[in-house]
Amino acid sequence: MLKKVFVADLSVGMYIQELCGPWIDHPFWKRSFLLEDEPTLAKVRDSSITHVWIDPAKGIDTPLVAQDEPLCEGPAVTPVVPIVSVLPRAPKPERARVAMSDELLRAANVCSRSKAAVMEMFGDLRMGRVIQMDHMADMVREISDSLMRHPDALINLARLKSADEYTYMHSVAVCGLMIGLARQLGLPPPLVQDAGLAGLLHDIGKMAVPEAILNKPSALTDSEFETICSHPEAGTHLLDGRHFSLRVLDVCLHHHEKIDGSGYPHKLRGTQISLFARMAAVCDVYDAITSDRPYRRHWGAAESIHRMALWEGHFDQKVLYAFVRCVGIYPVGALVRLRSERLAIVMEQNAGSLLIPMVKVFYSISRDMPVAQELVDLASGQDAIVGLELEKNWGFNNLEVLWTDGVCRDFPNHRPANPSCK
Ligand SMILES: [Fe+2]
Repeated sequence: MLKKVFVADLSVGMYIQELCGPWIDHPFWKRSFLLEDEPTLAKVRDSSITHVWIDPAKGIDTPLVAQDEPLCEGPAVTPVVPIVSVLPRAPKPERARVAMSDELLRAANVCSRSKAAVMEMFGDLRMGRVIQMDHMADMVREISDSLMRHPDALINLARLKSADEYTYMHSVAVCGLMIGLARQLGLPPPLVQDAGLAGLLHDIGKMAVPEAILNKPSALTDSEFETICSHPEAGTHLLDGRHFSLRVLDVCLHHHEKIDGSGYPHKLRGTQISLFARMAAVCDVYDAITSDRPYRRHWGAAESIHRMALWEGHFDQKVLYAFVRCVGIYPVGALVRLRSERLAIVMEQNAGSLLIPMVKVFYSISRDMPVAQELVDLASGQDAIVGLELEKNWGFNNLEVLWTDGVCRDFPNHRPANPSCK
């Protein structure tokens, strides 16, 4: 039986029966072939292809599933399963969570007020005024409290931003992600607060970059690129002497460093990069690629996680795995195919296992039409995820309205409503 797998999960010895996507998008003239060596595997991974069909009868099979997560039954092994084996355990929640639907509206309000506070902060800096530090610290605490009430609501809502508000909402989103990641890493509360503040301020240097360059929809010139790359140092100069902790200053300066030394501004490598800066690198990139920008559409949250896992040398792997534990293998909003041949959107993570989230079914694949929406808790075993699907392959738009439960209508930072089906 053929199996559909992510290119991330391919290995030498597998027989590719079919490359998913139009031929023009990849450099292979054959659609079926045996993956005989690492260079060919690297070529597949470097192409724009995200999935392939493999034939286990003609080559080796997909890897065994991990021992610490239950196996999803179904015709195909969930393609993301191999990553589960290396994920850290989830920390015990400090208090019982409220219902996701209860937290969404509150989180939307926190996002709106935080965005306004960040805009004010940028304005104060432009005018040479003093930053309202207490106000910033209060915002971080509010974001932190929201994540404490429910870890999925705010960090997923903060992804839904329009391209023109990106600079401000990105700070709020990275703040939330840093707090979630710091808790996942077991950092004590004062450091969790510092991580949030570092997230909120990490891109403050962009205030010194003209908006025409920040939001340019076409390719940057060399000098424009240099200007953008100066924002970590510009930000550090802005914050220096304003009573921020060294950790906050360090994140501001080093959140674009890469573990292999190819980042900027100082080309630090490995443990030369502080833990906080390594955390910020992951949170920053995740929010950037899951957001709409003037020059490209966002990638889905689940697709982004898988792409990031493939970027060798960019991230600290342990930090990345902790991050995956934090946002999920199937993050809220991910489009998934179920064993029952239906499509569903992930609504909420299961605190015990990343493979069995709560989902909302909305589309029948066999009938090729929308069906009555139904909440299904995959922990019940009545259905299971067999794979991820890409929104663009189905022509769906604005699937956010399915998981935001109407909050989108009141939330000023959402993309236009009305989901459309193919
Ligand atoms: Fe940055």
